[in-house]
Amino acid sequence: MMSYPTDPVIARQWIDRLSQKGRDFFGTDYAIMGGAMSWLSERNLVAAISNAGGFGVIAGGAMGPDLLEAEIQATKERTSKPFGVNLITMHPDLDALIEVCLAQAVGHVVLAGGLPTAAAIAKLKEGGAKVVCFSPALVLAKRLIKMGADALVIEGMEAGGHIGPVSTSVLAQEILPEIRSVPVFVAGGIGRGEAILSYLEMGAAGCQLGSRFVCATECVAHEDFKKAFLKGNARDAVTSVQIDARLPVIPVRALSNDATQRFIETQKSVAAKVDAGDLDPKAAQLEIEHFWAGALKRAAVDGDIQNGSIMAGQSVGLVKKIQPTSEILEDLITQAVQALVRRGEDFAAHSPVSSAPSSLAAGA
Ligand SMILES: Cc1cc2nc3c(=O)[nH]c(=O)nc-3n(C[C@H](O)[C@H](O)[C@H](O)COP(=O)(O)O)c2cc1C
Repeated sequence: MMSYPTDPVIARQWIDRLSQKGRDFFGTDYAIMGGAMSWLSERNLVAAISNAGGFGVIAGGAMGPDLLEAEIQATKERTSKPFGVNLITMHPDLDALIEVCLAQAVGHVVLAGGLPTAAAIAKLKEGGAKVVCFSPALVLAKRLIKMGADALVIEGMEAGGHIGPVSTSVLAQEILPEIRSVPVFVAGGIGRGEAILSYLEMGAAGCQLGSRFVCATECVAHEDFKKAFLKGNARDAVTSVQIDARLPVIPVRALSNDATQRFIETQKSVAAKVDAGDLDPKAAQLEIEHFWAGALKRAAVDGDIQNGSIMAGQSVGLVKKIQPTSEILEDLITQAVQALVRRGEDFAAHSPVSSAPSSLAAGA
């Protein structure tokens, strides 16, 4: 009878086979993507993830074309391994950013922040890049594949940063059994190897992790930002609250701080001004959106963790120490291997033969 392995070497090979599709897609040792994090996923962290066998992704969302070009070149100086670039589809300079990626022969471009256009996907593919798209639902996954997406990321609402409404576990059940034609990577709330193993077993090609890499030694986040991560529990990573239906708030998951509270007060006062006729709804909406402008940089780069946005996923509770990126990746793989070995041991200890009544075990 087939059984799970109890030998760690075989368990490791098993995990390599489970993640083969994702490893082949990126050309990496591990099917683990470092999810792009604005201001943090720059040359140092990206190169560290790729050098350690994962797939680092530069966060191009807050960059213009010149900055992105410099960042790609600086990353190439630090690693000869594959890495990618994440672009935000509504960036006003998207075309120019795509051209930079193609000119720099970036192998994989992740299109985030809304549904990409067919033209953007086609331009990247014609230029030789593989295109990875975010899919928030099965119907969109199918549409993106028809549009030419080479791989998908499905990210649940446990994730840090901008989020959708559906949890990772439900998205995985909705999408993984249906999509076999392209690799699908699961993101959101993943902080340990056991979860990576489970999603691989469900059919994922690999996983994307963001929060787990914030406290990497190589991550340039301000030390107070890292300290907030070390202190933060899963329940502290909350979504932005909307208090008035007329003033929509883009859901973002971040550690609760003074700014979280002030944001609620701001919404109340803006809504009151709209009620009083002192502010038209469009201006009110701008005031709401303006509240968080530059807030991630303020916290992550400047270290103002009370007035900035400490974007973090619920997996923040699994971040326990500052450690080198290579160690983080090794920990994740070791946890996955150990989980498989434990299953093997449980199988051996509770096999039908050993636990069955002796008459059955004897084949009577
Ligand atoms: C501080 C921070 C900044 C992020 N910035 C971006 C971004 O610029 N673009 C993007 O596509 N995703 C961004 N994300 C999402 C990550 O790429 C990743 O998908 C997410 O962190 C996965 O969930 P996890 O944090 O539970 O691992 C960000 C996440 C964090 C924590």
